[in-house]
Amino acid sequence: MSTEQTDMSTEQTATANASANGGGTAAETLSVTDNRTGKTYELPVTDGTLRAMDLRQIKTGEDDFGLMAYDPAYMNTASCRSAITYVDGEAGILQHRGYSIEQLCEHSSYLEVAYLLINGALPTQDQLDKWVYEITIHTFVHENVKDFMQGFRYDANPMGMLVASVGALSTFYPDANKINDEQIRAIQIIRLLAKMPTLAAFAFRHNMGQPYVYPDNDLAYPGNFLGMMYKMTELKYKPDPRLERALDVLFILHADHEQNASTSAVRSVGSTRVDPYSAVAAGVAALYGPLHGGANEQALRMLRRIESPRNIPDFLEGVKAGRERLMGFGHRVYKNYDPRARIIKKHLDAVFEVRGTSPLLDIATELEKQALDDEYFTQRKLFPNVDFYSGLIYEALGLPVAMFPVMFAIGRTSGWIAQWLEMVQDPEQKIARPRQIYTGERDREYVPIADRQSTSVAP
Ligand code: SDX
Repeated sequence: MSTEQTDMSTEQTATANASANGGGTAAETLSVTDNRTGKTYELPVTDGTLRAMDLRQIKTGEDDFGLMAYDPAYMNTASCRSAITYVDGEAGILQHRGYSIEQLCEHSSYLEVAYLLINGALPTQDQLDKWVYEITIHTFVHENVKDFMQGFRYDANPMGMLVASVGALSTFYPDANKINDEQIRAIQIIRLLAKMPTLAAFAFRHNMGQPYVYPDNDLAYPGNFLGMMYKMTELKYKPDPRLERALDVLFILHADHEQNASTSAVRSVGSTRVDPYSAVAAGVAALYGPLHGGANEQALRMLRRIESPRNIPDFLEGVKAGRERLMGFGHRVYKNYDPRARIIKKHLDAVFEVRGTSPLLDIATELEKQALDDEYFTQRKLFPNVDFYSGLIYEALGLPVAMFPVMFAIGRTSGWIAQWLEMVQDPEQKIARPRQIYTGERDREYVPIADRQSTSVAP
């Protein structure tokens, strides 16, 4: 619907809206009375939503801009129509293109799930073989990327290195900004999936002060990543298949999660028609935050700080008093157990069988038990999320905690790409530019510096 309202009657507007939106019938409307003017409006309801632009016709006079919706942190705002991931937060359901996360973790591989997310269907064997081959032969990065990474401090946080190096990739593929060219888009998608593990492993090796290990095209995606992380003087790195499978499942579990903060960042930055490397770099930056992808690192640090199950009651009292946050618990959408946390818990044993168990597991399971027995948490619907147990697997794999969000980023790259591609191809989408409620001063006269009084305005 255009934003310029012709002077149609409200009924005509509503009908026009309904047909323009291909939306609901006359019955699928909201009758709104503006008590400021006594006018009534019929607003179409489509897919359980109102179009925010339909509010603009509600005015108190000709020079009124019209109503907007105010929704800080987008608690109740749909930013797009998407067919990639379905989440039912109350029921704890997660599906990718209609396939349950449980089935995909049981039967699929990360690269097959990446294909599904990006292409919309499970691949045939030939399609999968070609997809895996293309990604395998693009795992190397330009040697200048190594030099670039050498410029970081020896103890630079690997997630900070990843943000920078993913963005830097855009300088190696200047035609990547031709985002309407399907062929050019396709090769950038392959490169991003292929090179993310290489950049992540290089950041780890830099952090450890160890030489970089180049990709080994004889290894599968997760095994190749383990090789680039841990290969030392052996001629050929041989990943343990149990660790390789656990890692592949972890990448699947982190692949996509509808419009989370980092995906929204990718969509918003991508809406300016920038190249996909720069858009994904924005996603990595958003994921870095401790409330999002950084939570797996904070959750493990929290378990280490608790130190023993006997300290859990005091810790939980600290959470209730607001002195602590229960990291790895709670979710904007899940008001039930995060299905991904359940699956990760199942794979802990396979990793511990190879690498030995972690004393933190007893603390984590007891902490979960006591929290879920406490109505402070159950009333707020705070259940374990994907970040609560994942850190235990990463720790068992020998990763430093600073690498945990990097592991999340590797998995989420397929989701960011799929969501970016869907946004680029969506005719409804344009540059993302929210409105605001202005609360500042108006029409002030400039004051010469000699006449100013000092103000205690915080920077
Ligand atoms: C991810 O969006 C996604 O899909 C994200 C993700 C994905 O796959 O992309 O699933 C990945 O980011 C998982 C979440 C990882 N983050 C954490 O584990 C950090 C700890 N959890 C939170 O800080 C919090 O639960 C959020 C950020 C996840 C959700 O925050 P909301 O939806 O804004 O909820 P809120 O902060 O408004 O909390 C509601 C209430 C508040 O209590 P009151 O002030 O109303 O009394 O619950 C409390 C909060 O204080 N609360 C917590 C808590 N989480 C919420 N109290 C203690 N510990 C917590 N973890």
